[in-house]
Amino acid sequence: MQALGQELSGERKGEIAVADSAASGDAKMTGGPRKLTVTLLPMTATDLGEVDAIERDLFPSPWPRKAFLRALKSRDTRFFTAFESGTVVGYAGMRLGDSAHILNIAVHRDYRRRKIGSQMLALLLDLAVRHGARCVTLEVRSSNTTAQSIYRKFGFAPVAVRKGYYAREKESAIVMAKEIGKWAASERPRATEQRALDPGV
Ligand SMILES: CC(C)(COP(=O)(O)OP(=O)(O)OC[C@H]1O[C@@H](n2cnc3c(N)ncnc32)[C@H](O)[C@@H]1OP(=O)(O)O)[C@@H](O)C(=O)NCCC(=O)NCCS
Repeated sequence: MQALGQELSGERKGEIAVADSAASGDAKMTGGPRKLTVTLLPMTATDLGEVDAIERDLFPSPWPRKAFLRALKSRDTRFFTAFESGTVVGYAGMRLGDSAHILNIAVHRDYRRRKIGSQMLALLLDLAVRHGARCVTLEVRSSNTTAQSIYRKFGFAPVAVRKGYYAREKESAIVMAKEIGKWAASERPRATEQRALDPGV
């Protein structure tokens, strides 16, 4: 998760994706946790009440609502909300670019290990590909072995350590990166419907 302090600006463009996909590694999932297919939609301000509650529950230094609002207005940023029966069960966001950057990814505690994180990560990586990114990077707390595990599963590798990056807890961030060329076709989400409404794609 990216710590705050970076300005986001611009205009939001929409992207709709209904993830009905097996995400990376899913084919090997026999006997593993049950997958819950979620609907992924571009985040809107109306999602922020539920998003905010999850954010505050999960992160010691949560993004304030105004930071999400800034991200939603940014030309270079995409945030998605995961819905299960109309309830927000997760969200994820990315800054696009030659080197795309995952800003945040979170799944409600009650919905973990059901491949929702995988569906969102697969969507973000697919988005990065479609926007021509060469690589995708992110920061993760050094103590957050769960998140590191999902990132490794998707082919991210640690490339640097940022000491004291999470200032409040004086915790280091591990920077992880994935070369997009290695996002092979076999790994990509098998979405039944994935429509890009972004004319820039
Ligand atoms: C990280 C997070 C998004 C994963 O979401 P999820 O929907 O539970 O993950 P998935 O079910 O898609 O799991 C995919 C893989 O991640 C790894 N993983 C997920 N949860 C794990 C856990 N508790 N322990 C170990 N590995 C785990 C496993 O490799 C798993 O594959 P498997 O289920 O086949 O073993 C979720 O745990 C979360 O929201 N954590 C708190 C917020 C956070 O830390 N965000 C990341 C900030 S950088």
